[in-house]
Amino acid sequence: MPEPKKLFIKTYGCQMNVYDSERMAEALGAEGYVTTELQEEADMVLLNTCHIREKASEKLYSDLGRLRSLKAGKPDLKIGVAGCVAQAEGEEILRRMPLVDLVVGPQSYHRLPAMAKAAARGEKTVDTEFPAEDKFDHLPDRPMAKARPTAFLTVQEGCDKFCAFCVVPYTRGAEVSRPAERILTEARKLVEKGVREITLLGQNVNGYHGDDGWTLARLVRALAKIDGLDRIRYTTSHPNDMGDDLIAAHGEQPKLMPYLHLPVQSGSDRILKAMNRKHTAEAYLRLIERIRLARPDMMMSGDFIVGFPGETDADFAATMDLIRAVNYGMAYSFKYSARPGTPAAERTPVAADVADARLQELQALILDQQRAAQQAMVGREVSVLYEKPGRLAGQMGGKSDYLHAVHVMDRTAQVGEIARVRITASAPNSLTGERV
Ligand code: 5AD
Ligand code: SF4
Repeated sequence: MPEPKKLFIKTYGCQMNVYDSERMAEALGAEGYVTTELQEEADMVLLNTCHIREKASEKLYSDLGRLRSLKAGKPDLKIGVAGCVAQAEGEEILRRMPLVDLVVGPQSYHRLPAMAKAAARGEKTVDTEFPAEDKFDHLPDRPMAKARPTAFLTVQEGCDKFCAFCVVPYTRGAEVSRPAERILTEARKLVEKGVREITLLGQNVNGYHGDDGWTLARLVRALAKIDGLDRIRYTTSHPNDMGDDLIAAHGEQPKLMPYLHLPVQSGSDRILKAMNRKHTAEAYLRLIERIRLARPDMMMSGDFIVGFPGETDADFAATMDLIRAVNYGMAYSFKYSARPGTPAAERTPVAADVADARLQELQALILDQQRAAQQAMVGREVSVLYEKPGRLAGQMGGKSDYLHAVHVMDRTAQVGEIARVRITASAPNSLTGERV
């Protein structure tokens, strides 16, 4: 047996990239690569990149700059760029950074083994096609998925919504749903390996439409029948694809967790229209009412963009009003970043200091709501899936149904156990509880 080659993967961006990184590790695993946590000992470094905002994309070039000295001392080191910057910039990456050996887009990573072989021969390759074949049909069957209690599972990729600010429809391509049977098989395999919670992933996950009329709600119901799978989550959803059957599933399926990430981006109808979101603030609020009717304890999460071109003080005030009306348990917020090739990039930007001030104000409100939601858990009983030992001896760390991080003193417990826990205290970023 030859000495295994070591692979270091750095993942930027969203959960889909986390999933993709694992699948890439599995694909290269079939070629004799084992993963390492230490970049210095790697024979191949793969950067799985994010293109969503300018700051995210710039990280690639600063990291590549830092890799120069590593490669100088180790000429056989292979460097690959994967993910959405690879898709968007392709050959340009090789031109700008000659130390890169291969560039592979998110739809072509089943071709990585061949590209790694080419790299070993000293050839550089770029593959940013949207091939007709399904990459999942050409990937090994989750051989390396490590024993752990939670996993991501991509069910849908791409986006047809074309929000005016967003690169996803260009980097990830058109919406494609994987066949339900394949998803169920993958889920069963994960559960056999000890997974108890699966998060279904898609850029527009609630728009999932498999062959034979499969919807996300139907998929959730089928997954809920798998013994040993105890928790189901899904992300990210678009308000317009939140169908009645999916809302109903939240009321009927105890395995479907009461936490929903449902980005709205803005609370101003004028801006929503300029963003091409195709819904109003009122429609979003009514939707949340219906969701909370089905599942009264639903913890809502969202995404916001401030400083979108044309956003006035009144538009921003409408966003703040919407946030107050929803009362989020969690939310992510970003300053608008003009992305090349998107319609909004052509429009006149909001002054940076105005956008900064709005972002601060919005984040303060969100933080208040987040803290209040956490504080409201104190005294309540929740279930906690233990994911790893905590920092203190005898302590376990895991997530509640509502996705709060919870620490519990529980000396005899095992990772992967789901415990009933009474919450006793709330710290800024986590809760503490006692097993009941
Ligand atoms: N600028 C700022 N934020 C953006 N997002 C997407 N595109 C941009 C952009 N150009 C945010 C949206 C989306 C999240 C994943 O990233 O809020 O929901
Ligand atoms: Fe981007 Fe809009 Fe599609 Fe979400 S729905 S991925 S924000 S285009």
